[in-house]
Amino acid sequence: MPIEIESPEGLGYEKIECNLSESSFMDQKLSDLGFDPENLVLFYGDHKGKKELREHIASEHGLNLDQVLVTPGAATALFIVSTTLLEKGSPLLVARPNYATNLETPRLIGAEISYIELKFENRFELDIEFLTKKIEKKNCLVSLTYPHNPTGVTLKPEQLFRIVELIEKNNCILLIDETYREMSFEERPPPAASLSDRIISISSMSKSFGLPGIRIGWIICKNKYWMESFLAAKEQICITNSVIDEEIALHYLRNKQALFNPVLERIKRNFNLLTEFMNGQKCLDWVPPGGGCVSFPRVREPEKFDMDRFHEILLNDYATYIGKGSWFEMDSRYMRIGYGWEQPQKLSKGLENILKALDRSRID
Ligand SMILES: Cc1ncc(COP(=O)(O)O)c(C=O)c1O
Repeated sequence: MPIEIESPEGLGYEKIECNLSESSFMDQKLSDLGFDPENLVLFYGDHKGKKELREHIASEHGLNLDQVLVTPGAATALFIVSTTLLEKGSPLLVARPNYATNLETPRLIGAEISYIELKFENRFELDIEFLTKKIEKKNCLVSLTYPHNPTGVTLKPEQLFRIVELIEKNNCILLIDETYREMSFEERPPPAASLSDRIISISSMSKSFGLPGIRIGWIICKNKYWMESFLAAKEQICITNSVIDEEIALHYLRNKQALFNPVLERIKRNFNLLTEFMNGQKCLDWVPPGGGCVSFPRVREPEKFDMDRFHEILLNDYATYIGKGSWFEMDSRYMRIGYGWEQPQKLSKGLENILKALDRSRID
């Protein structure tokens, strides 16, 4: 997948000064968390995930600990759900653009996929009428991501309630990737899995908390049978999580208020900076995100720019990196700008560099 080959890790962080390609808050240092692992026993751990960690996650969702399965990141959680619930020919309705795993694993399985296209022209909103038509009597899996990557578009509570109604009425299953849930600027719907036993919510410590290195995510679902199947799948992949990772996650969640408040403040400050920037220029159009830490603007007059040259100049001459539209199977006029990673000054510099590189890649 191009997003992996061209990832900042693959490219080399030393080549990037302004990193606007990330889809998370800046990676945190263990020393910033005040966690001391000295006396930790390095055993296998609970196969469902550390009890106190599951209790903590469950209580935040108004559920009980048996409705939470801890996994190595949201990516593994998504893989577990797809490989458990889908087989060749299974009907799947999945939103596009999307995080690659939400598309690639079902493709590999051979699911019968219909796409719910999220279009700039519709402000990347989910077309509920389209969903209603497509979902009818299909018993399908519906796969959505909110807040959405790469657009940052969110779901209003009443939209989620309508979707839940449709799911239940048509005997479908909703898989909802809520990895960015903690980073919402607008009214946040309740955790989806708390609303119905036909809903599976996925999330992790990676994006909002800036802890992708501990590989801790989770599946939340009220359906006992599916949870047993997910546990069986996890057993085949990794047996348990890393106990060090689980301890760090638990430590973070116990101290969440103190650790996460500064993160949210910075994200909001950066969001305001990005908004000011977008309003003060004429080359790019955007749909302002309602949450997360990414946005997905597009070049207003694509025929006037050589976009390959733009990305080349932006990286090679301005050491600024952003996500390409092609990472999300979208036209090259689109770009993902991650605004959660850098400090405000670097973000502003990176944004100005985008305009400079665009100016130099005009077709005469
Ligand atoms: C929407 C979405 N879901 C899941 C993931 C995977 O996250 P994790 O690091 O928890 O595996 C990502 C990572 O980019 C993502 O953007």
